[in-house]
Parts: sequence; C-alpha cells; structure tokens
Amino acid sequence: MAAPTSGKMCQKCFFQMLQKCSFNSSVSSNMLIRRFHKVSNTKLNVLRYRPNAVFVTKSQIRTFADDVDSKSRLLVLGIETSCDETGAAVVDGRGNVLGEALHSQKLVHLKHGGIVPSVAQQLHRDHIEEVVQGALDTANLRLQDVTAIAATVKPGLALCLQIGVEYAKKLVKQSGKPLIPVHHMEAHALTARMIENIEFPFLVFLLSGGHCLLAVARGVGDFLLLGSTTDEAPGVVFDQVARKLKLKHHPNCSTLSGGQAIEVLASQGDSQAFKFTVPMARYANCDFSFAGHKNQTYRLIDKMEKEEGIPADSDQILSCVNDVAASFQRTATRHLMQRLHRAILYCQQRHIIPQDNKTLVLSGGVASNMYIRRSLQAVTDRFGYQLVCPPPRLCTDNGVMIAWAGMEWLKEGRGIAEDPEAVDFQPRCPLGVDMSTDVLNAGIKTTPKIKVPT
Ligand code: KG4
Ligand code: ZN
Repeated sequence: MAAPTSGKMCQKCFFQMLQKCSFNSSVSSNMLIRRFHKVSNTKLNVLRYRPNAVFVTKSQIRTFADDVDSKSRLLVLGIETSCDETGAAVVDGRGNVLGEALHSQKLVHLKHGGIVPSVAQQLHRDHIEEVVQGALDTANLRLQDVTAIAATVKPGLALCLQIGVEYAKKLVKQSGKPLIPVHHMEAHALTARMIENIEFPFLVFLLSGGHCLLAVARGVGDFLLLGSTTDEAPGVVFDQVARKLKLKHHPNCSTLSGGQAIEVLASQGDSQAFKFTVPMARYANCDFSFAGHKNQTYRLIDKMEKEEGIPADSDQILSCVNDVAASFQRTATRHLMQRLHRAILYCQQRHIIPQDNKTLVLSGGVASNMYIRRSLQAVTDRFGYQLVCPPPRLCTDNGVMIAWAGMEWLKEGRGIAEDPEAVDFQPRCPLGVDMSTDVLNAGIKTTPKIKVPT
C-alpha cells in the first residue's frame, strides 16, 4: 500500500482520536493527526505504514460513517439560544437523542406582546446551566463523555446568541472538547436527515416566527438560497393578525398561539369571503412578503369593526372573524404555494435536484398548520416530490437540531473551530449562496396555478 500523504489517517485512528483527545485550539487535519500520535505515543511512520489499514482523508470520513460502531460512538452536545428557547441535547451519530432539555420563554413573551431581547437574554442566562445539565443528566453522561460541543452562533438575536456562545466556550475551556459553531437555519434543514434517510441535494422550506426561506441543501455547509422574506416572517404576521382580531379573548383560542388560533377559526370560515391580493404575484422570483398582506387585513378588520360598531379598544370580536381568518390564511398560503411552485420549476430547469431524489423538507412552527401543509403538498404532489415534515417538537427551535447539525459536520471531519476563543456570534447571516437574481433571470411562470385544496 502506498504511504498516505499528510492530511490522511487511518479510520480507526481517527475515531480513537476523537474519543481520546482533548483539544482546545487549532484542528487542521495534520494537527489532529499529530496530536493523536502524541496522545497515543504511537510513532507516526509505524501508523502510516501499517499494512491493510484503510486510510481516509477528512472529507472521506463519511464513507465509513455508515459503520454502526463508529457512528454510535460519536456524541455531540448541542446548545441553542438564538431566540426564545434555551435548548440543549446530546445526540449520537446514528441520530439517537440520548438526552434533551428545553426551556421555552414563549409564555413570558406572550405577556409582553413580543420578544423583548433584554428579557430573553436574562431568561437564557437564568436557565442555560440547568438546561445543559438537564440534557447531560437525562443522557446519563458527563461533559467529558461527549465528543464535541455544538452551539448556535448565527443568525439570531445578538443578546440571546451571546449567552449560548459564551456558555459553550466556557464548557470547551473546562473540558478541552472541540467547538462546532452552527448556523441556526442550516440546523433546521439538516434535522430532517436525523429522522429520515434523505440524501443531498434536497429542497428546504422554512416557515416560522423568525424565518421564511426556500433553499437547496446540497451538502453540509453548502446551501443555495432561492428566496427569503423581504420584510416579515409569516409566523409573526399570523400572530399580529390574531392580536388585531383579539383572539386572546375568543373562548376557543385563549391558550393558542396566534397562528394556531387563526388555523382553528379559519377551518370554520369561508376562505373566499374576502378578497386579498396575493403578495408579489408579478415578481418572478422566490422571495416573500407578508407586510402588505397584513396591512390589507388590518384595514379590513378596521372597516368591519366600524360597520359592526365595535370600538377598537374593546374585547369584542367581529361576527365574521372566522371568514376573516380563513381569507387571510388562504391568501398567505397561495403566496407560499406560488413561491414553492417556482422553486421546483427553477430546480428542474437548472437540473439542481436529480429526478430520483425529489424531496422537500418543510419545517418551522408555521409548517404545523395543516391547511398550509396540505396546500404545499398539492404542489409537491404535482411534481412528484416527497414531502418530509419533521415532528412538531423538531420543527420549532430546540437543542437537538443543533446537536445533530454539529454531528453532520463532525462526521465529515469539518466545522471544528480552529480557535474556539475567537468564535463570535453573528446576528445576521444569510443561508448559503444567494441565487435570487438567477431565479428572477430564469423568468419562470407559475401557470397554470395549482389550486388550494378545500
Ligand atoms: O418555529 P417557531 O416555534 O418559533 C419561532 O419562530 O420562534 O414558530 C412559532 C411561530 C409563531 O409565530 C406561531 O404563531 C406560528 O409559528 N405557528 C403557526 C401555527 N402554529 C404555530 N402559524 C400558523 N399556523 C399554525 N398552526
Ligand atoms: Zn428557528
């Protein structure tokens, strides 16, 4: 066997190294190898010339990641604090969640009528230790047992990201474990691969209170951004319309989030009762806009309240509330359907998704809306795409998705911070390469329209 070049190592050594080594700083492949040999006291050239050993480069590590033993030996602790959930979890290489803990701030923010960053930060600070310890305890593991620590570093609320990143760095310093910085949206997209056997490339649709984007996941850390929202995220707009409709005071909705409340009432209303303009229908791209639709809905609510003689500051609810909710939801959904329709046609035109791998991963809090899901399924069905929706607990923010994203990087032997101390958070960070201009230039028409299912 030819001597491997530097930067290659035998697979057995690689996993032994991951299990045994503690490293704080630089982790280029050569350094990892040198450090392993230092730890194991094995002479470099003995290992290099060991007969019958399978040598791999870091990028080839995935080829043996299918080996059940090596996969299950990797353990990643993930930490999420980008918005209003303090989450932590430990997952293994096969996607088993060994331990998990989550502290949700949603009820507190509900009282404030939205997220106040300084309040969110304090809540993360107050709960991060118990959440991380809770994840380790339920996994029956100590920090020393994990292979690496992954943390959300981007994008998100600066004050919130700061808490998770600082805490992760503290744990890294304490344990000598490697740090894997994680992109929050990428983690949402990759979570589906933890529960289903989904090969790259696949299409991703994220819809939540904080995000709205269509992207192609081509690999770990390799995304094409087809479109994103130009103003607000759909979840926020559902919440705001619910507030304007005073659904907190509705007997069937008092405990529901704004989006859930709209869905429940809409199911009993006439979705064609009021006509709204579908946002951006004449823009041949995959970007989104919800602010205009929200304002149109506000104006309708004001008008109807006037007609019914309801003072704006009272708790009284419109008699046509179900119809308003249904019409609002239908137009928002048609917007989502049209963007997805174009994204699929674009991928087809540019040969981005192979014929035998047509998959759409749909995630985020808004994706739990069954009306929206059925409607998007009408689009995927038309083009023979498989629709994969992670279970609700994995669609919303949590520690598992961060741990799994870290695991995806780790299995590829990439993504470990060279200098953990230098890792910083980034409140803004788009996902992948921006393809929105190319999508527009492709001039794709979305006719004939796909009907919203009844
Ligand atoms: O992903 P998620 O839990 O967290 C953040 O974005 O932070 O999404 C929460 C959002 C909220 O705005 C909520 O109103 C919306 O998702 N949502 C829904 C539904 N369930 C939750 N929107 C529409 N229909 C639903 N059934
Ligand atoms: Zn999220």
